[in-house]
Order: sequence, then structure tokens, then C-alpha cells
Amino acid sequence: MAHLTDLPVTGHRGAILRFLDDPGSQDAPGSYQYFEDGLLLVAQGKVVDCGPYTSLASQLPTGSTVTDHGHALLLPGFIDTHVHYPQLDVMGAGGRELLDWLNDHTFPQEARFSDAQHAAVIAELFLDQLLTNGTTTALVFCTVHPQSVDAFFTAAQQRSLRMIAGKVLMDRNCPEYLCDTAETGQRDTEQLIARWHGSDRLAYAITPRFAPTSSPAQLQGAGELAALYPDVYVHSHLAENQAEIDWVKQLYPQARSYLDVYDSYGLLRPRSLYAHCLHLDERDRQRMAQTGAVAAFCPTSNLYLGSGLFDIAATDKAGQRFAIATDVGGGTSFSLIRTLDEACKVAKLTGQYLSPLRAFYLITLGAAKCLDISSTTGTLAAGSEADFVVLDLDATPLLSRRTSQCQRLSDLLGVLITLADERVIAKTYIQGQAFQSRHPTEPHWKSHRT
Ligand code: GUN
Ligand code: ZN
Repeated sequence: MAHLTDLPVTGHRGAILRFLDDPGSQDAPGSYQYFEDGLLLVAQGKVVDCGPYTSLASQLPTGSTVTDHGHALLLPGFIDTHVHYPQLDVMGAGGRELLDWLNDHTFPQEARFSDAQHAAVIAELFLDQLLTNGTTTALVFCTVHPQSVDAFFTAAQQRSLRMIAGKVLMDRNCPEYLCDTAETGQRDTEQLIARWHGSDRLAYAITPRFAPTSSPAQLQGAGELAALYPDVYVHSHLAENQAEIDWVKQLYPQARSYLDVYDSYGLLRPRSLYAHCLHLDERDRQRMAQTGAVAAFCPTSNLYLGSGLFDIAATDKAGQRFAIATDVGGGTSFSLIRTLDEACKVAKLTGQYLSPLRAFYLITLGAAKCLDISSTTGTLAAGSEADFVVLDLDATPLLSRRTSQCQRLSDLLGVLITLADERVIAKTYIQGQAFQSRHPTEPHWKSHRT
């Protein structure tokens, strides 16, 4: 730990929750730390320390500033492991199943990103939405247009954000205006990796949309890039919808399963993430676990598009890694808290239980681990990046009443999952700097902390 006296330190006082490990289905003790009256110390964009106010306050150098967040709850910034920035204007466009939805609503919107100006405008709106909802890092689909990636990374870099994104690869079974070729896709991807990967807090993801829209030659090229750049991400969709799965069987008849298509091109490895993973068999699950590939559970999208119910227990049993994602615009909310609400309901519909503690783990440390960034973010550990959120437990009269009745942390988190939306996000901090929410709430001070 840095010596406090060496640095200009900013303190943030409030209740603080951070995770050390996966609470699992039994809320394992020792998997989290909760400081009812806590202090988070930040210097030069990094966490210096975090602990009980009474132990840390006395160590503050004179002249340090402390922001008292009153009755608020501080958490690491949320991490969305699968979201499409060009689909902001697709949200709620129409409710048919995946393949019709893509053709009727999504592809026409994505076509607009050939215009760099449009891409720049939407990138800003999208990042505003993420930050307003407490999301500080995301793994993001752009469109097939390289300029959509440049626009996104430019906007993210100006805001000093940790973001992962990539150009969509699709060279068949899509409108001509959205098609690349195996060659141009690979060349553009390599140029974008050179331009953006590792620049400040940005990282690149090789992004084949899904097996139906990539030729074998394109997936082969993607696999070559994945091998050449092992610290670059791989990001795609998998086993979301039955018609999609049937189509993959026709297009790749030699593959044992949908997952096997990606496997045969070398696209399963740590730092590869597949959205949905709803319809997998046991061998697929074992293979994902073995390779370290990650599943992104996107409950609002799965319900909106009627795709199916993610099986948390089967995922856990196989040792598969998974995180939670909004999947906007198939997803219906930018809020990861709203998304957790739907995740908990999906768990119940499959006869399972997702505890509130584990739910919050999944959008913080759990997601950071899945994205292999937990050494730098998602923990509030000393030396990590000071990306964090401040939740106003009094954001609405109902929330205030219900949270004030909660005796236990898990009850409080359960109430938040059920009742909170973007109004609860009082502040989002990026490397210690406050992003000004467009929906600021008046602070409601409370004299007691229970
Ligand atoms: N599968 C291929 N493309 C998409 C997409 O944009 N959204 C979702 N939900 N699934 C997809
Ligand atoms: Zn998606």
C-alpha cells in the first residue's frame, strides 16, 4: 500500500461493499467485505485503501478532503459483459424472435454506422447511458464498419474509460450493405488492434457476429488472429435461439454442435466470451469450462426475444465461467441492477435461486474475473483503479422506506434488485473523478447507520 502521507488523498465515506470471491449459492462467508461506515481512499485515480471509517480516518494526511455520502452504498463500478452500442435505437423496436428481429430492426439501424458522424453521436449517448446506470466497463459490439470502432474508442478514451470493443465480422447471410469479406474483415481487425488495443484503458475484441453470418474462411481468419493476439478478446453469440441453432447445423454440418463450430476454428480460450449459451449440452459445457471461455447471461434479452432460460445450476455444475450482461438492444435496460432482477426471476423459473449477494458479485468482481481485468478493476482493492458507484438508498420514497427496514445486507441488496433503477445511481466515479449523472438526486442524510 502506498503511504498515505505521500499523496493528495480524497476520501469517500459511506457504506462500502466489495467482493473477494464468488459467494456461490450459499453466500460463502469471507467472499465479501462490508463496511457499514466505511472509507474509500483514492489518490491519482487509484484506490489507496478501503476499510472502516474509524480505522482509516485517523491516517488521513492533513488537507485531505472527505466526501460524506451519508446513507449511500459504495460499490465497484458495474461491468456489462455483452452490449451493442449501435443498438441503442433498436431498444423496444419490436418483439419478434431473434432472426426476424435482426433482419427487421437491427441490421437497418446498424447500417447507419457507415456514417462516422452518426457513430460518434450514438457513442456519446451510449456512454452517457452506461455511466448514468453505474456501468464503468463494458465488452461492446460495434458494427461491421471500422469507423464505428474508431468513434466508440475515441469517445471512451476521452472519458478515460476501461472499455473493450471490436468491429463486427460478417461476410454472409446479411444485407449486402453490412457485409465485409474474409479478407477485409481480417485486415481491418488487425489495423484496429494495432490502433486501439492497449491504448490507455482500451482493449480490442475480435468480434465474429455469430456463426451464421461468417463463412468458414472468416472464422478461420478470426481463429488465426485469436492465436496471434492471445491477450485480445474474442466476442460472439452462441446458442441463443432454436431457429439459429438449426441454421448453424445446416451451415456447418460437420460440427458436433454450435459450440464445436467456434472450437474447430480455435475461438475458445480465456478472454473469449459468448453471449447467451442457452441451449448447450453437457459436452459443450465441459468444453467451455476446459477452455476457460465465458458465458454471458443476458436475461432481459432472453425474455424479450423469447430465446430461453439460462441454466445457472448446469453452468456451475460444469465449472463454466459466467457473468451477466444487458445485451442492449435485444436487452431492454442499460441498468445492470434491473438486469439482475430479471436474472433472479429466470433462476426461479428454472427452479433455482440467485442470491442478492451473488448477483452483485456477478456484475462487479465476477465480471472483472471473466474479463481477466480483476487485477486492475472491479475490486476496490489497494492499487486498483478507482471506478466506483454511489447508490442513493433514498432515491425514491419507496426505496427509502424499504431499505430503511432492512436489517441484513442481503435483504438490502434484494430490495435494491427489486426496486432500484438508474435513479439509485447518485454518482459514478471514473478513476476517482465524478461523472455527473443526468438525473441527480438530492441527498437525504440519515443520522444512523444500521
Ligand atoms: N445474434 C447475432 N447477432 C445478434 C444481436 O445483435 N443480438 C442478439 N441478441 N443476438 C444476436
Ligand atoms: Zn448480443
